[in-house]
Amino acid sequence: MTTATGASNPGRVEHGRIEVVHPDMVGKAAVVTGAARGMGAVFAAGLAARGVDVLGADINDEQMTATAAQINADLAGVEKPGRVVAARVDVTSADEHEALAQRAVAEFGRLDFWINNAGIFPFAEAQDISPEQISAVLDVNVEGVLFGAQAAARHMRPGGAIVNMSSVSAVRVRRGRGAYCTSKAAVAHLTESLAVELGDKGIRVNSIAPGYIDTEMTRWVQEDPAALAHALEVVPLHRLGSPEEVLGPLLFLLSDSARYVTGHSIAVDGGSRHV
Ligand SMILES: NC(=O)c1ccc[n+]([C@@H]2O[C@H](COP(=O)([O-])OP(=O)(O)OC[C@H]3O[C@@H](n4cnc5c(N)ncnc54)[C@H](O)[C@@H]3O)[C@@H](O)[C@H]2O)c1
Repeated sequence: MTTATGASNPGRVEHGRIEVVHPDMVGKAAVVTGAARGMGAVFAAGLAARGVDVLGADINDEQMTATAAQINADLAGVEKPGRVVAARVDVTSADEHEALAQRAVAEFGRLDFWINNAGIFPFAEAQDISPEQISAVLDVNVEGVLFGAQAAARHMRPGGAIVNMSSVSAVRVRRGRGAYCTSKAAVAHLTESLAVELGDKGIRVNSIAPGYIDTEMTRWVQEDPAALAHALEVVPLHRLGSPEEVLGPLLFLLSDSARYVTGHSIAVDGGSRHV
C-alpha cells in the first residue's frame, strides 16, 4: 500500500485517512476480490478497521496471505476490529466464486457485503486487440463480476449489498484501452441489470467508477512524465486519487446510509469523466 503524502509526491496524491464511521456495519461480513494489493487491500483493511470481517480473495494467494497478515497486525491497536482471512480465487470461475461464498459463511456465519474488485488493464490499440486479450478482459472484468454477484446473491440475506468496480473508462474513451473500456461499460450496465433483479431479494447493487487512482495498475502514469503532466492538467482537481478516497464512497454504498440506493454508479475521479 502506498503511503506517500504531500508536496514531495510528484503525482500529488492525497493519502490521508478518511475519518468516517458506520456503526451499523460492525459485526457484518464481506468478501473482497482482488484484495492482495491496490484498492482491494485498502478496502479489506478499511472494512476490518470498522468491525467488518473480510474474506480477502485473489488469484495471487501468496500476496493475499501476506496482505491479510499485515492488515491483521496493523489492526492490533484498533478496538473490536474485524479480521481478514485470505483465500485464493480466480474470478473467471463461477465454481470458485461459489466456494468463496460458502467459505465466507462458514468462517463468519453470515455474508452481508460483496465487492467485485478484481480487474485487469491490458494495453492494445483497437486494431491490435487479440482474441486472447479481449477474452481475458471480458472473462476477468465482466464475467468475474457476474459470477461474483450470482454467488453473493445465493448466500446473502436481505439487506445485503454488492459493489462492482467500474471505471471512468466506462464513459470516456482511453486510447489503447478499448478492451478495458468496453469491459467497464459492461460492468456499469450489468450493475443496473443486477440491481433491478436482485431488488426482489432485498439486495442492493451499485458500482464505483474511479478515475486515476494511485495503485500498481496506474503506476505507469506516475512513471511517465508526459502522462503524469497530462493527467494533472486535465483532471479538474489536478491530482491523482488515492485508494482511501475510493474507500469512503464504498463504505457509504455498503452502509445503511445508502439503503435506498441501488443501480447507481458513483464516480470517484476528481471530475475527469467530464473532460
Ligand atoms: N487504479 C485505477 O486508477 C483504477 C481506475 C478505475 C478502475 N479501476 C478498477 O478498480 C479495481 C482495482 O484496481 P487496482 O488499481 O487496485 O488494481 P491492481 O492491479 O492493483 O489490483 C488488482 C488485483 O486483482 C487481482 N486479480 C487479477 N486478476 C484476477 C483474477 N482472475 N482472479 C482474482 N484476482 C485477480 C490481482 O492479482 C490484483 O491483486 C479494478 O477492477 C480496476 O479495473 C482502477
